[in-house]
Amino acid sequence: MTAIKASSKARLKSIFDKYFYYVHSVQSADHDASLLWKMMRNLWKGPLPKQPCMQEDFCGTAALCYEWVKLGQNHRAVGIDLDSDALAWGVEHIAKESNYKSLDRIELIHGDVLSDHKKKPHMICALNFSYFFMKDRTTLKKYFQSCKKTLSRNGLLVLDAFGGPDYQLPHSDRRRNSEMKFTYWWDVEQFDAISHEIKCHIHFKRDGEALRKNVFSYDWRLWTIPEITDLLKEAGFKSIEYWAEGLDKHGDGNGVFKPIRSERECQTWVIYIVAS
Ligand SMILES: C[S@@+](CC[C@H](N)C(=O)[O-])C[C@H]1O[C@@H](n2cnc3c(N)ncnc32)[C@H](O)[C@@H]1O
Repeated sequence: MTAIKASSKARLKSIFDKYFYYVHSVQSADHDASLLWKMMRNLWKGPLPKQPCMQEDFCGTAALCYEWVKLGQNHRAVGIDLDSDALAWGVEHIAKESNYKSLDRIELIHGDVLSDHKKKPHMICALNFSYFFMKDRTTLKKYFQSCKKTLSRNGLLVLDAFGGPDYQLPHSDRRRNSEMKFTYWWDVEQFDAISHEIKCHIHFKRDGEALRKNVFSYDWRLWTIPEITDLLKEAGFKSIEYWAEGLDKHGDGNGVFKPIRSERECQTWVIYIVAS
């Protein structure tokens, strides 16, 4: 869980701060950072970089950057986002309030991921499906080509993707954060089988309060794994792996992610794609 001081938590909860509820609902930055580091340790060709640099594209509050630099005293991170409010929120509430000693190892860029930022990171990641807002092949290929160009030699690009029959029908997934006493919904409002355009929202309801609808809204294309794979290859990535969470004896996720070769179809799935 993203580290935010208890005093700050109380204030953010009292005013309904949308970023606070975002990082405590759909994001697990500490878990993602550990998984990315595991992927790098598994897939890096040759000795690991002395100063492993991870670039978080579409970083929002950059919660993942703050977690990445906690993994080692030489870890470095670059976060890029168009939204200055989200970047500033991360600085105010995750960085400053948590007394991170490693802030000089994070660089935040208020800009477009499609611009050339010349940072030569060892890994670029675009998580929480942020690249889905690119709806046509030309734009997505351009983004993958720019990642390939930006990455250092042997660098890794990590994306996540979701799918499954449930996502092709309007529906709402209800989840509860009991510790923080709120419920949230991942709501698929619309899916178009021809264009694969999908409109989703996140709603929140704090105990004893009215429902807050459409706090975050996304207008995306639901890309399929074969389409993403083809575009990555066209952009110059030679090796592509797929990682998924294993299941426990009840059929629930066991928290252990591993490379997979094929996936049995299920109602919903989330897969990480690692390209190099
Ligand atoms: C779904 S949020 C993802 C936040 C975070 N990466 C996460 O894992 O939850 C998408 C973010 O992408 C940013 N964004 C959209 N288009 C962008 C672009 N072309 N360049 C940089 N950031 C962009 C938005 O400002 C928003 O903060």
